[in-house]
Parts: sequence; structure tokens; C-alpha cells
Amino acid sequence: MTQNLADASRSAAVPAARTAANTGASRGGWWRDAVIYQVYPRSFADGNGDGMGDLPGIRSRLPYLRDLGVDAVWLSPFYASPQADAGYDVADYRAVDPMFGTLLDADALIRDAHDLGLRIIVDLVPNHSSDQHEWFQRALREGPGSPLRERYHFRPGKGEDGELPPNDWESIFGGPAWTRTTDPDGAPGDWYLHLFAPEQPDFNWDNPAVADEFRSILRFWLDMGVDGFRIDVAHGMVKAPGLPDLGSHDQLKLLGNDVMPFFDQDGVHAIYRSWRQILDEYPGDRIGVAEAWTPTVQRTANYVRPDELHQAFNFQYLGTGWDAAALREVIDVSLDSMRPVGAPTTWVLSNHDVTRHATRFANPPGLGTQIRTPGDRALGLRRARAASLLMLALPGSAYVYQGEELGLPDVTDLPDEVRQDPSFFRQAGQDGFRDGCRVPIPWSGTEAPYGFGPNAGGPSWLPQPAEWAHLSVEAQTGDPTSTLELYRSAIAVRREQPALGAGTAVEWLPAPEGVLAFRRESAGGAFVCTVNTTGETVRIPAPGRMLLSSTEAVVTENGAELPADSTAWWAV
Ligand code: NOJ
Repeated sequence: MTQNLADASRSAAVPAARTAANTGASRGGWWRDAVIYQVYPRSFADGNGDGMGDLPGIRSRLPYLRDLGVDAVWLSPFYASPQADAGYDVADYRAVDPMFGTLLDADALIRDAHDLGLRIIVDLVPNHSSDQHEWFQRALREGPGSPLRERYHFRPGKGEDGELPPNDWESIFGGPAWTRTTDPDGAPGDWYLHLFAPEQPDFNWDNPAVADEFRSILRFWLDMGVDGFRIDVAHGMVKAPGLPDLGSHDQLKLLGNDVMPFFDQDGVHAIYRSWRQILDEYPGDRIGVAEAWTPTVQRTANYVRPDELHQAFNFQYLGTGWDAAALREVIDVSLDSMRPVGAPTTWVLSNHDVTRHATRFANPPGLGTQIRTPGDRALGLRRARAASLLMLALPGSAYVYQGEELGLPDVTDLPDEVRQDPSFFRQAGQDGFRDGCRVPIPWSGTEAPYGFGPNAGGPSWLPQPAEWAHLSVEAQTGDPTSTLELYRSAIAVRREQPALGAGTAVEWLPAPEGVLAFRRESAGGAFVCTVNTTGETVRIPAPGRMLLSSTEAVVTENGAELPADSTAWWAV
């Protein structure tokens, strides 16, 4: 099943452009202050007009990402997959799914990106495979006693006839985390563990064959020239010995509060230490980024100790509402937690699993990261723009999810029949409404799919709202008030003022209630960021010369008027 790459010459890992001193490279790693753009391949650009994004489509849009000014692109999975969980169910880790293209397309994409000065990070899904993976299929076919079963968690059931799951763990997507198999003779058999969908059996990382296989997969993509890996469910691979019961129901509510027997077990760190050695063998600063949902930022810091991974997503930041005190606290805690391990903090507001921040901030606080109501769109957009400018002013690395630079809201009214998120179809699961942030990107034109695919009136795997014509890249380009131009300017200023991403602390300045003000030193002078999270205009002494603002701030000799829900950058 694994595809072979005909052309054996590999693209260089270090992009040709952007190695200038104004990147984090000068301070020991390009990734320390990088702006990393997440591409969700299904929804970014469709090269062949079948309604599904693909690698040639992404390749054709790389100049857009270069012009946006980002340093690297993280691609969600494009591997061979039955798509039970939109590609996070991998059947062959060394093959590209035909719906996305071929390995040659991947190779060409990596080469082109490097030529444009963009780095490429690919997704690695080591907690589970697809149930169509060759190992799992053989484990089923060969029946009890098959050595392939040792690579997953097969267990006899409880109860007289083994009719009850082996323990009480619940799937993140809802329902039990176990599915019963049928033996080759047709009799009911053992159960297997899947923390996510039944089509995603969990690997048994105690089995050395699993660890060996993933070391080999890492090398395969590193040899292809990728610059790093985003590691899916990085907190999940090791399970507590004996797979003990949790003793409670509604376990999703416990996630994030405590170390669970299946999440954030200390044993995962040995895996990352071994991977770090492999990453370090390659030239060009290859990195690992943990998707680790842990109870505290302090525990997240464990994943980025000097001999482990390079970055971890800061989900505590993503989960913080539009509130000055809460933001200040999470910023301080995040920076304080990473400082002892010497890793940069990351900042992220949106991704393919959560309601876009323009919609989260449009709704009342406290609704979490899965929101099904559009809320006050104008308010949401204003706050989203302000939040993005705040994020881009913080020390560390920022992640931008495709479309947030267009100010896209979540599509909250997708008809049920078009939804594909597996947890939508399972009861009481998490994240059942993730399709709303995965709607294809509007690029141009007045008719769907707005340049997502090559043909006007052509298909897109999820329908785009009519009003997205006004939000397309084409519609926003050149409009100084657009969110796209705001992102372009912000990333350009960040590049000119390296101190914006550098360092490990911010200096808080006195500010009225509901306003944040902090100072950063830069080689060319100091920089101040002000954030007004209140619904009213707030007047403060002008901190300096305004560089950029999310909503036009007014500066007079009496001071600066910070509009409601706005951020401004100042040179001082
Ligand atoms: C996290 C991914 O971001 C999400 O999309 C996926 O469903 C789960 N991991 C399972 O792989």
C-alpha cells in the first residue's frame, strides 16, 4: 500500500529565503518566534474540482502564504485514510490518500514551499491508526493469539460471556471506548480499545514494534524534507498499567482537570526523548509540536523539556475568554511555566477542532469551545481582530488557522445531512460540531465555491454561506480595513520588530480596568501593546506612535482613545 517516490532526490530542509537574522534562528531556533499557519487540506484549495481540497491546490496557493508572511505551514493529515475522522484515521502512514494526490505531489509541495522560504510541518497520528490499517486488519483476521493483536489493546470482555467492555473508559467522541470483535469463526470475540471513534483503534505503545514503526515513519518524512511534526494526541499514547477503571461516568467533564489513566501519563515522555534524538540527527532545525491536552500549563511544559519536543499548543490560552484579567493571568502563567524548561510559549486562538474565535467571542462567555449559535457577529469580529493582534504581540510562536486571517466565522447552521464530524453521529461526545470551522476557504468571485475549486458553481465538500463572497481573499486584498490586510500588516511589523516574538516575558504597564498594556523592548526601540477588552472607549495617555490597530484608535494631544474591543500597537 505504501507509495514509492520515483524521484529519489530530496528537497533541502532549510528554506532558501527567510534565514535572515530577523527570525528566531538568530536566537537558537527558527521556531521560537515563528508564525505557523495551519492548512486543513480538505478545505484549503481544490486543484482538481472534485469539491475536496488537495495537495496540488495547496501548492498553487503557497505564494499567498508567502505573501501573508508566515514562517511555516502545518498540514493536517493527508495520508491514506478511509476518512472516518477526516484523515486522523490513518491506514498507511507512508502514502498520500488519492483524494489529496500522490507522494510526488507531497514532494513537489515541500520543494516549492522551501523555495518560497516556507517550512512544512506534517501531522503525525501515533495514538491510533485506522481500523483499515494492515496491522489491525491482520489482527482481526488472524484472531486471538495473533502477535499483531499485541500492537493494539485487545482484551476479553467482562461478564459471563464477555459481553461487557473490559473497563469503564469512555470514548472522547461518545459511547464506550471499546468495541467487541467477531472471531474468524463468527463467534463474539475480544474487545479493542479506541479512545476516539471505533474506526480508530489505539496502538499499544508498550509493544516495541509500534515504537520502531513510528521511528521509521519519522525518518520517512524527514527524508522527504519536512521541517517537523505536529503530534496528534501527544498526551495519549501511554495508558496506565492494567487499564484501571475510572469509576465515574461523564468522563469528558473530567478531562482537563486531572491526569487520566489514558491521558498525560508520565511514560509518554520517553517516546519524545527518543524522537528528539531522531529530529536532531537531521540538519535544519526539525521540530516536534505536541497536541497535548493536559490539566495545567505546567504539565504541558513537560512535553517541551530540552530533550523532548520543541513546542506544545497552549490550549489554556485558546480556552480563555475575552477578559482582561483572565488574559493577563493566562499569559503570565504560560510564560512562567515555559521559562524553566527553556521552551517558547505558543499562542493559538483557533484550529480545526474548535469553534472559530470570531464566533466564540460573538457569544456570551462560558460556552466553551464548541458553540452552535452565531452570536453578535460584528462584536465577534471586532474582538477576534483585537485578540489576533494581542496574540501576535506576545513572545513565542503563534499559530494561525486557515481563514482566521479572513475573519471567517464558524458556519453554525450547516444542515445535519452534510455534516461529517464522527462525533456528531455519536451521542454525548465531544466536538460534534467541528464541521463549522472546516468549511472551505473563499478565495475569489461572487459564486460558490468562491475559487476554492477551479470551476464557478463547482462543488465543495461543505457548503459555503452566500455572504462569504465578501470575505474572500480577493474581496479583502487591498482594502486597508480588511482583516486580511490587518494580518498582513501585523505579521510584517512583527518581522521588522523581532522583539515582538522574542523573549520570555512581557512588562505590564498600569492600565484602567478592562485594559491590558504591556511593553516589549526591541533593538530599534520599545514597543507597547494596548488591549481594550471593554465595550466602551477608554482614554489613556498615548504610549507612543501608533503602528497598527484592530479598530482605528484616535490620538489627540489629550491622549489616545482606545475603541471598545480593540488592540493597538505602538512604537515608543
Ligand atoms: C486531535 C485532532 O486534532 C482531531 O481532529 C482528531 O479528531 C483527534 N485528535 C483524534 O485523532
